[in-house]
Amino acid sequence: MWISLISYPESGMSGSHGNYTHSVNFSTRMSTNPITGADDMVLLTNCELQSRVKELAQQINFDYRDKGEIVVIGVLKGAFMFFSDLVKHLTIDIVVDFIQVESYEGTESTGNVELRHQPTVNIRGKHVLLVEDILDTGITLSNVFVFLSLHDPASVRVVVLLDKPARRQAQVKADYTGFKIENRFVYGYGLDYKQRFRHLSEVRTIK
Ligand code: IMP
Ligand code: MG
Repeated sequence: MWISLISYPESGMSGSHGNYTHSVNFSTRMSTNPITGADDMVLLTNCELQSRVKELAQQINFDYRDKGEIVVIGVLKGAFMFFSDLVKHLTIDIVVDFIQVESYEGTESTGNVELRHQPTVNIRGKHVLLVEDILDTGITLSNVFVFLSLHDPASVRVVVLLDKPARRQAQVKADYTGFKIENRFVYGYGLDYKQRFRHLSEVRTIK
């Protein structure tokens, strides 16, 4: 069975990468979860992730080539793996920082976003690049935007690894997107199910 699940959306501010769809052959993606042994599926292999992360970094390097020092802020916990792979490919001048917010219980967003850790770098007058694992309802990112704008940055742009456009509630768009995916709960590569599976090197989903 072939299902069009993943597309590479237009991204970046200085030109489009096109908008082509990559179909996933589900029969070749069946896999057992290495922790639980249950049947699940690999949605994005580590190889697919690495090559797209590198493309995103190259676009960011180009767009920020003459912007001076950039503050790159990872949204914990989900973005930790994407963040560390992305920054390895950045050739611009950056300082790194983190923000931690929580809104999920199990597989559902509670809608209440709680700030658990704030960045320690002063972002006043700085260009900020937020690095987030997944854009779902958009409630988390819209709250993070409000919080950061209180500190008067010169600009805030967002790079997300995954986007589930079908779920959007808040008016928020990413400037750079790795993969648009269907409305499925995913885990691995930083993303959790009830805090588990973050350390898996690929993005998985329940069969
Ligand atoms: P939003 O506020 O609904 O956009 O959700 C954003 C946050 O919820 C993300 O930063 C993730 O941490 C988490 N999240 C959303 N969808 C998923 C998923 O499919 N798997 C794991 N975490 C998710
Ligand atoms: Mg997150």
